Amino acid sequence: MKYGTFKMVSAIAIVAANGALAESHVTPEAEVLHYWTSGGEAKSVAVLQEEFAENGGTWTDMPVAGGGGDAAGTALRARVLSGNAPTAAQIKGPSIQEWYQEGVLADISDVAEENNWSELLPASIASHMKCDGTWCAVPVNVHRVDWIWANTEILAANDIEMPTTWEEFNAAADTLQAAGIIPLAHGGQAWQDATVFETVVLGLGGPEFYQQALVDLDPEALGSDTMVAVFDQMRTLRGYVDDNFSGRDWNLATAMVMNGEAAFQIMGDWAKGEFLAAGQEPGVDFTCASTPGDGFLYNVDSFAMFEVDGEAKQAGQELLAELVMGPSFQEVFNMNKGSIPARTDVALDGFDSCAQTSASDMASTSDGGSLLPSYAHGMALFGAQAGAITDVVTAHFNSDMSSEDAVQMLTDAVANSM
Ligand code: BGC
Repeated sequence: MKYGTFKMVSAIAIVAANGALAESHVTPEAEVLHYWTSGGEAKSVAVLQEEFAENGGTWTDMPVAGGGGDAAGTALRARVLSGNAPTAAQIKGPSIQEWYQEGVLADISDVAEENNWSELLPASIASHMKCDGTWCAVPVNVHRVDWIWANTEILAANDIEMPTTWEEFNAAADTLQAAGIIPLAHGGQAWQDATVFETVVLGLGGPEFYQQALVDLDPEALGSDTMVAVFDQMRTLRGYVDDNFSGRDWNLATAMVMNGEAAFQIMGDWAKGEFLAAGQEPGVDFTCASTPGDGFLYNVDSFAMFEVDGEAKQAGQELLAELVMGPSFQEVFNMNKGSIPARTDVALDGFDSCAQTSASDMASTSDGGSLLPSYAHGMALFGAQAGAITDVVTAHFNSDMSSEDAVQMLTDAVANSM
């Protein structure tokens, strides 16, 4: 029986009454704010909803559509400011710390300690989940951001191999364009522009440059010739997207690759969740490869629990935290979602070849020092700094701004955001 022991414990809330401990039976409740609304995402979050119900909980779903979570972030802020925080919300990276500093997060250290999270998680992931030494969030997965997805048939028909340098990418895209095929499926939303940008920073500048520019915000790196070359490549990529790219959702861009309307998409491995949900197979219908260059950009989804009143909601938070870190959830959810488990002890035998690549690259980049947090997905910077960079990236991508002007704007914007 899955989580049988926990079921008994969580359904019995221990409350202090007149100094003595008394038991009261409650149904765990959770209102969960998340932004998993695409086909692959919805299939993944359903796994958690089912496990929550199987363990006696009542789940109230609060999905907020919008890839990358910007709209969900706005909805969460409104709820918390009005004194009506959800039980749990999908937040991650430094923004967990920002919420903690506002004094609104619940402490889930009891669950973490009882279940040995420290031993089950890599130190880098655990550090994102801790606030002043207490556990303030529970990790769901590790998504890799620096991926290119391709339509296998289009590549074969045009005699194209997966590119291993940006020059090769451009050459392949030129060939495809000449053949009347859209080279790059892209959705013109700021976070998607930022996603592509950070893979180009990593690929052209290398892991050390990425760290200096997008994690340490070193003005020299931000204002360098390398950054000029990055914006040049962004301008080249702009030439490979179709005329209708503006505002398109990321999953619709993935669908263009699936349907053979476009050859490539540069997107994190939640895109794989879409291919899989549509019944497509890696290596057969679609191909995955890391974007050109070394390194690994990680993006860890997690849930933080908010301070809420009432035993039922608190029991819900405990149940949710325990289930999310449970081995069965980490396996099934991540197979659907395109990511790999955050726990290190889940066997990857049943996972596909892209996930196997992700896990082995994560291990080798971690040893080699090139495992880096994604800025575009909220793992590297506080919101204000990340937003300042993304504004420039988007302004450049959607205009004829020169690379030199973009670099100047970037250094100014980052300086003003500090
Ligand atoms: C999240 C993924 C999500 C994607 C698209 C990323 O920032 O980490 O879980 O699928 O955005 O919404």
